[in-house]
Amino acid sequence: MKAVLIDDHQNLEWTDTEQPRIGDKTVCIKIHTTAINRADIMQRRGLYPPPPGASQVLGLECAGEVVALGNGATRYKTGDRVCALLAGGGYAQYAVVDEGSVLPIPKGLSYVHAAALPEVFATAWLNIFMEAGLQPGEKVIIHAGASGVGTAAIQLCKAFSSPCFVTCGSNSKLDVCIELGADAGSNRHEASFLTRAAEFAKPDGVAVILDPVGAAYLADNLQLLGQGGRLVLIGLMSGAKADIDLAQLMMKRLRMIGSTLRARQVKEKAVVMAQLEEQVWPLIERGDIAAIVDQVFAIEEVTAAHDLVTSDSTIGKVVLRVSH
Ligand SMILES: NC(=O)c1ccc[n+]([C@@H]2O[C@H](COP(=O)([O-])OP(=O)(O)OC[C@H]3O[C@@H](n4cnc5c(N)ncnc54)[C@H](OP(=O)(O)O)[C@@H]3O)[C@@H](O)[C@H]2O)c1
Repeated sequence: MKAVLIDDHQNLEWTDTEQPRIGDKTVCIKIHTTAINRADIMQRRGLYPPPPGASQVLGLECAGEVVALGNGATRYKTGDRVCALLAGGGYAQYAVVDEGSVLPIPKGLSYVHAAALPEVFATAWLNIFMEAGLQPGEKVIIHAGASGVGTAAIQLCKAFSSPCFVTCGSNSKLDVCIELGADAGSNRHEASFLTRAAEFAKPDGVAVILDPVGAAYLADNLQLLGQGGRLVLIGLMSGAKADIDLAQLMMKRLRMIGSTLRARQVKEKAVVMAQLEEQVWPLIERGDIAAIVDQVFAIEEVTAAHDLVTSDSTIGKVVLRVSH
């Protein structure tokens, strides 16, 4: 099969490689579309190695059709249209994945839009609802609101009745976030988000913050959380080292939760995917929640697609169409 491989100079090449072998309780997917995540950019730079046992090929999600079933894989049959969360291997013609990480494509969705769902909705759901335990009506701050994860998180907050405030990098991105359901926000290049977010947080502070930024936002995040607030750290885009006011943590009974999705056991991922199917897929089928796609590239244009994501100008997902 063909897949995107990384050479010694971090160039990406669509070239021949070995097809992954089917295993117990796995399905083989003929990939029609895959999508780009920030993690792929970091992996390409050598900063985010795949977890043990995962494919070395980039790509954390895909959409396509089931073409083979491993022993004990009972849920799907060949020809089913599916999308899947992968620990790696999405920038390829075929992927093999535990059937618990696979979901049917929501009715009415194209392969392009289906590839934009698994990683960002699983990340947003896992961290906001399962890790932070968001309750209806509680206020949320979502950093990088126009990112793939951010656009999923905004829509989930709106659908589950929690007001949210976003940060992002331009006023036009802010407008899109508000259209998607954010209540307020701020442009990180104009001013610190603290003043506007504090207005939003009044009078009790926010309950949950979803933060992929890390060090630079830590002090303001802790200030904005109310009693019993939860900060879920999912990325370190501004750095990993910061001073922390432990008194604030203790007196407000705050919880800081570090979380990654990719390296979790397949059993844990299956729980996240099952909740998505039950709670979120019906909302997508009803049109209440959308897969937000910024641009679509052919897989042969993967370098240009990476450049676009790295420019910080995208809103939602960049999708790659896989040729056969
Ligand atoms: N822990 C996990 O399991 C997990 C899973 C998935 C994703 N993530 C993390 O979630 C984040 C979003 O991922 P994604 O794939 O959805 O990203 P994405 O669509 O590529 O968007 C990332 C956005 O982050 C903003 N940004 C970049 N550098 C920044 C900085 N130094 N400070 C503040 N904002 C910055 C930019 O938007 P603006 O210019 O509009 O701010 C950029 O467009 C990434 O950090 C990723 O690693 C974590």
